Parts: sequence; structure tokens; C-alpha cells
Amino acid sequence: MSTNVVLIPGDGIGPEVAVAAQRVIDASGADIRWTVRHAGEAALAAGEKQLLPQSTLDLISEYGIALKGPCTTPIGTGFRSVNVLLRKSLDLYAAVRPIRTMAGVKSRYDNVDLVIVRENTEGLYAGIENEIAKGVCTSIKVATDSASRRIADYAFRYCRERGRKKLSVFHKANIMKLTDGLFIRCAREVHDASYQDIEYEEVIIDAACMKMVQDPTRFDVILAENLYGDIMSDLCAGLVGGLGVTPGSNIGEKGAVFEAVHGSAPDIAGKGIANPLALIMSGVMMLNWLSTQRGDPRFRECATRIRNAYDRALAESATTRDLGGTLGTLEFAEALIKRF
Ligand code: NAI
Repeated sequence: MSTNVVLIPGDGIGPEVAVAAQRVIDASGADIRWTVRHAGEAALAAGEKQLLPQSTLDLISEYGIALKGPCTTPIGTGFRSVNVLLRKSLDLYAAVRPIRTMAGVKSRYDNVDLVIVRENTEGLYAGIENEIAKGVCTSIKVATDSASRRIADYAFRYCRERGRKKLSVFHKANIMKLTDGLFIRCAREVHDASYQDIEYEEVIIDAACMKMVQDPTRFDVILAENLYGDIMSDLCAGLVGGLGVTPGSNIGEKGAVFEAVHGSAPDIAGKGIANPLALIMSGVMMLNWLSTQRGDPRFRECATRIRNAYDRALAESATTRDLGGTLGTLEFAEALIKRF
């Protein structure tokens, strides 16, 4: 029986990379029935009143899974970010973003293989902002004991299940003594209580940035609150060849939304040149997740087929322009399918 998945094409390059990803996943043999729902500016263009329509949220809740293209968020206006809202509404508390160097992709380092686990529901992205007086604005950073423990437990469990050896928590508790202080205290306590087999360290975020660009291979799994995790994801993408090769997932107790780290890239939208690989890699994460959730090894076989195909394509320099190749978005998808 087919598995229902919501496909959110999104904005800008979103529809282009979504079609490419869908084509590759279907060709891999994965038995998926896609239902398209809109979010972002595409939702407004489709006549919805909200950037994130209730019908989109309801269907993701019902199916428990979505593959999502990027959504544009207007800067500095009344609309809240679709992504922040989506993650909060569905309680997708863990953003998991693997970063690894890939043969054939030019990058500054060899052998980078790390995973960022980002708390996805609180911190400065809680959206509590006020203009308390003319010319004076505040943004409230939220850290709760329950969310901090929950994400720490998720990150340590992730390490154990995948044979990862070390977890580094990034923080600024020397300045934000209460919020970041709570975040690292929870991580430390979760470690000491249940995960002493995993090496644990705490690194102040500014020093962590320096260490990351000096030698990213010293890190394994990184745990961070919302804002630091967001920024660190793009920084790390830059270490391994850019946003075109960085997938991601947002995981909750009741479902998951898979999406690339990159945004809607308005500068190249509509030209057919966007790299769909990060969304395709997010699709691979989705198939692996489905395999575990549904206990069906066939999804993992499809994921492996796709992964082998893009590893080969990259090694043979069959890539899009951002990676130095010449292929367009759909041509790259076809190049993968040819290699199945
Ligand atoms: P961006 O990631 O869209 O673009 C940054 C640079 O990377 C641009 O030069 C772009 O052309 C390039 N790029 C990104 N993805 C690419 C791809 N697949 N292939 C080739 N080149 C690619 O970041 P930016 O410009 O900061 O954000 C644009 C919009 O996207 C904003 O409205 C932002 O809010 C939104 N955004 C949405 C996200 C999501 O829906 N998950 C995540 C990040 C940003």
C-alpha cells in the first residue's frame, strides 16, 4: 500500500527542486502517494489568507510526514516565519542537519562528518517581540527545563543509535546565565544520568565558531539552541561545499518534516539552475525515517539507491552550476535516475 506524504513545493526555487526530488524518489521505487499543499507566498498566491494555511497543517498532522521546499519569509513585516510557525505548531522539536564532505564536491576540508541537532521550538525564535517604547524593541529568549531536557535526550539517543562518540553543546551561558545556563545544565544532567558512554563537552559559541572553521573534524554531534543551531548550520554548509549539499529534517513525537537547509534563493528562481541535491538528500533522510517508523526495509533500499546514485554522479562531475558543473535542476535529477 502506498504511503501518504505531503509535498510542500514552497517559494522561489522550491517548486523547481521539489519536482526534481519527487521525480528521483518516485524513480527509486519508493511507493509514495504525494499530496501537494501550499505554504509561504505560494499559499497567498493560491488564494489562502495565511502563509501557513490550517489545511496544510492538518494534512501534515494526519499523515505525520512532509517533504518541504523552502518558503520565503518577508523581512521585518507582520507575518511570522512559516518555518518557525510550522515547527512550533507541530512540535517538531529537533532539527537534525547532517554535514559531510562528499567526493567530487570542492570544499575546504576533507573528512568532515558531523551532525547538528538544533532545538527547534524556543530560544529567541519564540517570537515574543515587543516595541516597549518608541525606538526600543525587545525580543524575549525562552528556555524551559522540559524542552532543554527533551532535545538533550534526543541528541544523546541519536549519538548512541548511530554509533556517534561525542556530543558538543554550544552555548553562551557566560553571558546568558539563566537561559543558556539552563540549556547546558539540562544537557549535562541528561548526560550524567543516562549517557556516560558518550563523550560530552561544552563550548562557548564564539570559540566554537573559531574552532569549527579551524578544524571541523574535531566535532561529531553538536547540540545547540535555536539561533546558534540555525547560524551554525549555514556556517557548516559553507565548509563542505555550500547550501546545495546540506539536507535537514524537523522531527517531533507525532511526525516529521524534511527540508533542505537552504532558502528560496530568489536570485536564481525560475531559471532552472537550482541544485535539487539538498532536497533529494532530505528525501533520503525521509525514506530512512519511514523505514524505521513503519518497519519496512524497502524504504531504506530506495534511500540507498538514491544515495549511491548521487555519490556516483558527484564523483563523475555530473553536477549543477553551484558545484562547478553544467546541469540544470531537472537534468541533474535525470542524471541520478540514469545511475540507478
Ligand atoms: P538562500 O539559502 O535562499 O540563498 C543563499 C545563497 O545560496 C543564494 O545566493 C542562493 O542563490 C544560493 N542557493 C541557495 N540554495 C541553492 C540551491 N539549491 N542551488 C543553488 N544555489 C542555492 O538564503 P537567503 O537569500 O538568506 O533567503 C532567501 C529566502 O529564503 C528568505 O525569505 C528566507 O527567509 C527564506 N529561507 C527559507 C528557509 C526554509 O524555508 N527552510 C531557510 C532559509 C531561508
